[in-house]
Amino acid sequence: MTDPIESPWGAADIFERILDAMRASGLTTGSVTIEQLAPVDHIHARGFAATRELADSLAIRAGDRIVDIGCGIGGPARYLADRFGCHVEGIDITVPFVEAGNKLSEMTGMLDCVTIRHGDGQKLPYEDESFDGGYAQHVTMNVADRDRFFAEAFRVLRPGAFFALTEHGLGAAGTPHHPVPWSDDGAGAYLLPPERTIASLGAAGFQEVEVVGTGEEYLQGYRKMISLMDEGALPPLGVHIILGPAASEKIRNAARNIEESRTRPVRIMCRKPA
Ligand SMILES: C[S@@+](CC[C@H](N)C(=O)[O-])C[C@H]1O[C@@H](n2cnc3c(N)ncnc32)[C@H](O)[C@@H]1O
Repeated sequence: MTDPIESPWGAADIFERILDAMRASGLTTGSVTIEQLAPVDHIHARGFAATRELADSLAIRAGDRIVDIGCGIGGPARYLADRFGCHVEGIDITVPFVEAGNKLSEMTGMLDCVTIRHGDGQKLPYEDESFDGGYAQHVTMNVADRDRFFAEAFRVLRPGAFFALTEHGLGAAGTPHHPVPWSDDGAGAYLLPPERTIASLGAAGFQEVEVVGTGEEYLQGYRKMISLMDEGALPPLGVHIILGPAASEKIRNAARNIEESRTRPVRIMCRKPA
């Protein structure tokens, strides 16, 4: 793969790795529940717990159309579709994730309410004003043109729709240690200070921008994972499957970057004016 965006995420054998880990956990691979998959398919700090908390703050109604930009292998999309009875359109730039995501939706019997397609969040293949809400969890660290990414999200949302975002912003000390989950060596990483991200959302037209610092809670999540790694007690099925052989180093650096103010994670909620 030549696209630097794909390098940290694009392992071609990702679905096989997940199947192997499922078997090692004693799960059948023909049919599985979204709860059983949850340890592996929420690819962001604090995993499923963070998706659930994000969902708690979203006013989604049954039948709504929601867009998940940078949906990964679709764990958050399946969870929201199941919890709210909405339809989620996921889009992701990493082909093996799109393929694995659709196979996992099939295994969970959710192909009718979760659609995952290949594409770039900087150029969305959707009609104007076609979604009731949208979100991007831990995606924008790899997005070169933040203004365009947000302008596209704004374009496809209906007036009054929410847009939720989580990311590792650039901290005051700068220069994060690598590798981290989103980049092996800094290539394809475009972290911005949260103030710049907020300005970019405003320039796109979003209003009611609310920002919460998530550094402390992420640190606790990372530290828990580091303890399990140190004890050799990580369960077979987990996001380390996705992060690959350097998972341990990536997680330790993600924690250290927050501790040293090299990164500054945030959760942002905003809205397209009604
Ligand atoms: C940390 S993973 C998060 C996946 C998912 N949002 C989740 O929380 O489980 C980051 C994802 O963003 C995707 N991505 C990065 N840049 C993208 C872009 N420009 N357009 C679409 N997806 C992108 C990557 O392929 C990867 O799947």
